[in-house]
Amino acid sequence: MHGPAGGIMVAVHSRIRVILVGLVLAALAACGGSDAGAGGALQSNEPYVIKFPHVTAPATPKGQMAQRFKEVAEQRFPGRVIVEVYPSAQLMEDTESIEALAFGEVQMIAVSLSLFDRLTPRFQVFDLPFLFPNLAAVERFQASPAGQELKTTLTDQGILGLQFWHNGMKQLTGPRPLIEPDDARGLKFRVMESDILQAEIEAIGGSPQKMAFGEVFQALQTGTVDAQENTWSNIYSSKFYEVQPYMTESNHGYIGYYVAVNAEFWKSLPDDLRAGLEATLAEVTQWGNARSEEINQQDKQRIIDSGRSQLTVLTPQQLQLWQSAMRPVWDQFRGAIGADLVNAALAAAQ
Ligand code: LMR
Repeated sequence: MHGPAGGIMVAVHSRIRVILVGLVLAALAACGGSDAGAGGALQSNEPYVIKFPHVTAPATPKGQMAQRFKEVAEQRFPGRVIVEVYPSAQLMEDTESIEALAFGEVQMIAVSLSLFDRLTPRFQVFDLPFLFPNLAAVERFQASPAGQELKTTLTDQGILGLQFWHNGMKQLTGPRPLIEPDDARGLKFRVMESDILQAEIEAIGGSPQKMAFGEVFQALQTGTVDAQENTWSNIYSSKFYEVQPYMTESNHGYIGYYVAVNAEFWKSLPDDLRAGLEATLAEVTQWGNARSEEINQQDKQRIIDSGRSQLTVLTPQQLQLWQSAMRPVWDQFRGAIGADLVNAALAAAQ
């Protein structure tokens, strides 16, 4: 098993949770659930094991890409690699998985870019409200030199980024129609555990509550929170629309993922296997990113067809009000993110 990677200050309770996960994984392996050690280490001729937890449902863009990566990798390298995909937060939530990756308890993750603000302020560029009008703009930025450089931002913390995966653009859901920012005033909004998203909700007069993805449905159902922001595919597959009677097509932000591996584990792979897995991941990324918009649009239609939640499509004037209300967040975070990165994103977004 790999030792702690330098650079990350991990709270004691988080470390204990990671150790507990390690114990669960070891128990699974003892029950025949795994052919190799919990840290993915190779013993004699045993295959390398890549434990890959994530939080969304298998049918989401991320769920489909993770599954396809598993299938193609295992088919191309029979007996040499096993990819164990754990969807729907069944193994752990996102923030724990970042720590588990750094400690080598899992080998691969695909976590929302928003959740890395504890490790670097640079990724917050993806959460500047209304910066990217659509996925094509995000893709241009990610493919630019500034975007590509972000992949290796966390290597000194034991985390190596290999690809960016799309989910889609975020929409708002709530207990009443959200037509103008004033409609959000006083509502408790679940947000990801991210300071910039907290600021975004404060900017529209809402009360942000940071919460792990796996807890959101119940929190909405029981009224612990009133509202939330997410993509169509997450709103559909996690059934948020069943407990949120109103939705607004705001496209105010982006959810995409940093697909990362434990740097030490990755370096330990034989060169041909590492290169082959990276090529496989690149192909899967191209396949999945090209389908993510379609999946989101299909799920939007499924929600509309269910009749459970009423959709508001904003007029240009109403949209402008949301943009103006959220805009102060840019000034709050531009300095920490770095003007260079914000400018590169703006250039790509044109
Ligand atoms: C969320 O927490 O709302 C999203 O990051 C979940 C996801 O992985 O898409």
